Amino acid sequence: MTRHFLRDDDLSPEELIEVLDLADAMKRDRYGYRPLAGPQAVAVIFDKPSTRTRVSFSVGVAELGGYPLVIDAQNTQLGRGEPIADTARVLDRQTSAIVWRTFGQANIEAMAGASSVPVINALTDEFHPCQILADLQTIREHKGRLAGVVLSYVGDAANNMANSYLLGGATAGMHVRIGGPADYLPDPVVVSRAHDIAAATGGSVTVTTDPAAAVEAADVVITDTWVSMGQESEKALREGPFRLFSITAGLLGLAHPDAVVLHCLPAYRGMEISADVIDGPQSVVWDEAENRLHAQKAVLTWLLERR
Ligand code: CP
Ligand code: NVA
Repeated sequence: MTRHFLRDDDLSPEELIEVLDLADAMKRDRYGYRPLAGPQAVAVIFDKPSTRTRVSFSVGVAELGGYPLVIDAQNTQLGRGEPIADTARVLDRQTSAIVWRTFGQANIEAMAGASSVPVINALTDEFHPCQILADLQTIREHKGRLAGVVLSYVGDAANNMANSYLLGGATAGMHVRIGGPADYLPDPVVVSRAHDIAAATGGSVTVTTDPAAAVEAADVVITDTWVSMGQESEKALREGPFRLFSITAGLLGLAHPDAVVLHCLPAYRGMEISADVIDGPQSVVWDEAENRLHAQKAVLTWLLERR
């Protein structure tokens, strides 16, 4: 049966480590893997803007020997209302995988439901699992392990990144702490699923409205924009409640002195993170951005091997 990567818990704890090990191997031997030689095409579709995801999938598919077919959805019939399932049935006859950045998670589930080739979530309103793979690779590089590491995400705790850290961090056996304002906390269904995963992996899950409690003694401190794509009209409304959750040198000072700082980017300095933190010595955001390439090559290769 075709495997897809639509959310972070689509990989078991063992499978997650296999993918991360492959990502490390691909980073060491960047041009040594050619599973798409032919070249086979991979459709990479965007309903929303992107810099990192667009570049890393384009470069990654090319490095795997394939042809990246990068498509802006507004210029396709999908953008004019052609059914998702019909689009999947056209693409899967001509491509080896489909990568899609879209709005609702239901969209990507519909694509996967009709596709005979692997479908990869390149960000939805609910999850951003490719980003979490890169982040876990980065954390393992800097901390030497994942299980038992304290990962604190503060800011918009109701967004796709928070959900993905809950599921991906728990799968990796991490202690995941999510801190955000009371009106912007994660979906209880996702929190409950993360608790279940953590019970099996030895990790744990904490959700708090206290930024200091979220960050205290953390090994990894992470944030994301307060205004995700599609929420632009709420910008003024959203900034106030998040102010206490801004990662400044003061808040970071509560974390472990060796803590590393991640941000999926793009970053808004002076908002969710201060310039001295994101541009400072604890920041590993450029490693994180590079690892999108290696982690996505790995998950794509892993899925293709299981068709
Ligand atoms: N982090 C991330 O997904 O960046 P882009 O929106 O630029 O792809
Ligand atoms: N939460 C952000 C992530 C951007 C990579 C968004 O969805 O816009």
